[in-house]
Amino acid sequence: MKSTTVFLITTAVLLLSSSEAKAQTTKSPPPSLAPAPAPTPDHVNLTHLLTVAGHFQTFLGYLESTKVIDTFQNRANNSKDGITIFAPTDDAFSSLKQPSLSNLTQDQLKSLCLFHSLPRYYSLADFKNLSESSPVSTFAGGQYTLNFTDLSGDVHISSGWTNTRISSSVLSTDPVALYQVNRVLLPEAIFGTNIPPMPAPAPSPEAEASPAADTPSGVNVNATSPSSSSEQNKNSSPQVISLGFQSQLFFAVLSVVIIMSG
Ligand SMILES: *[C@@H]1O[C@H](CO)[C@@H](O)[C@H](O)[C@H]1NC(C)=O
Ligand SMILES: *[C@@H]1O[C@H](CO)[C@@H](O)[C@H](O)[C@H]1NC(C)=O
Ligand SMILES: *[C@@H]1O[C@H](CO)[C@@H](O)[C@H](O)[C@H]1NC(C)=O
Ligand SMILES: *[C@@H]1O[C@H](CO)[C@@H](O)[C@H](O)[C@H]1NC(C)=O
Ligand SMILES: *[C@@H]1O[C@H](CO)[C@@H](O)[C@H](O)[C@H]1NC(C)=O
Ligand SMILES: *[C@@H]1O[C@H](CO)[C@@H](O)[C@H](O)[C@H]1NC(C)=O
Repeated sequence: MKSTTVFLITTAVLLLSSSEAKAQTTKSPPPSLAPAPAPTPDHVNLTHLLTVAGHFQTFLGYLESTKVIDTFQNRANNSKDGITIFAPTDDAFSSLKQPSLSNLTQDQLKSLCLFHSLPRYYSLADFKNLSESSPVSTFAGGQYTLNFTDLSGDVHISSGWTNTRISSSVLSTDPVALYQVNRVLLPEAIFGTNIPPMPAPAPSPEAEASPAADTPSGVNVNATSPSSSSEQNKNSSPQVISLGFQSQLFFAVLSVVIIMSG
């Protein structure tokens, strides 16, 4: 009887320590994610951020050809106010037929790029307040304005020519916010106020629906990137299950020990 008790206690201790070991091994992946921002400890590297996301290549190309990327990076590096950037996807550019960007001068392209940002950091929660001060001046200046409407956390953006919404948050860490939009934002200050009676509605639902379906509540203020958050999910859920199972075993063994020794 005594040796059985010792055996059971030993088993219980082994189970407990193996579950601790398991917790430690499954905890180790996050530190391997951490070195990613190491090359830029002080500042977000916007070129890198837009590159690794993968689907902002066209936007990045325009930012680089107009040198607006330097304006943005400088703002991210050196301003207390920070910056908010609305990055259209590659699909947004390829589905834009009319009006075309191909006739724009270099100065107009530069303004178009600056139009996709606000010279201040805004978290998603800030857009509720911001919608009350619409129209809001963008980084492109005075007449280059956007209207925001916050529908219980769903942020809609209107430029007159473009009606879209923030479809996901790529990064939102003061002083830099980078949000994905599925449309190119077209300013009235370039294209005029003679907006054709919406040839847009047809492509609108599908253009909005497919990426939005990806991340309906995926607008996560704290997510640094979609890849890191999904890796964290992969790591954490099996760990919770295995710990839960092992601690159940532990308590089952423990109660047997108590019953037998009592
Ligand atoms: C930012 O990232 C890009 C692309 O990854 C890289 O080429 C560039 O050297 C980086 N700039 C800085 C200042 O680290
Ligand atoms: C931003 O800061 C990084 C270092 O953190 C520096 O390498 C880069 O040149 C700076 N870029 C601008 C445009 O100020
Ligand atoms: C460029 O502008 C000209 C004249 O304004 C117009 O005829 C032409 O269709 C435009 N091209 C594109 C690709 O929009
Ligand atoms: C909301 O916006 C107003 C100006 O429109 C500003 O004075 C106020 O500080 C803002 N509130 C918050 C919580 O940001
Ligand atoms: C933006 O909002 C202002 C004020 O609410 C309104 O007058 C204007 O028509 C709006 N513009 C667009 C493009 O929605
Ligand atoms: C984001 O993180 C902050 C603290 O870091 C926390 O207070 C807040 O609840 C988090 N928000 C979400 C949506 O996870």
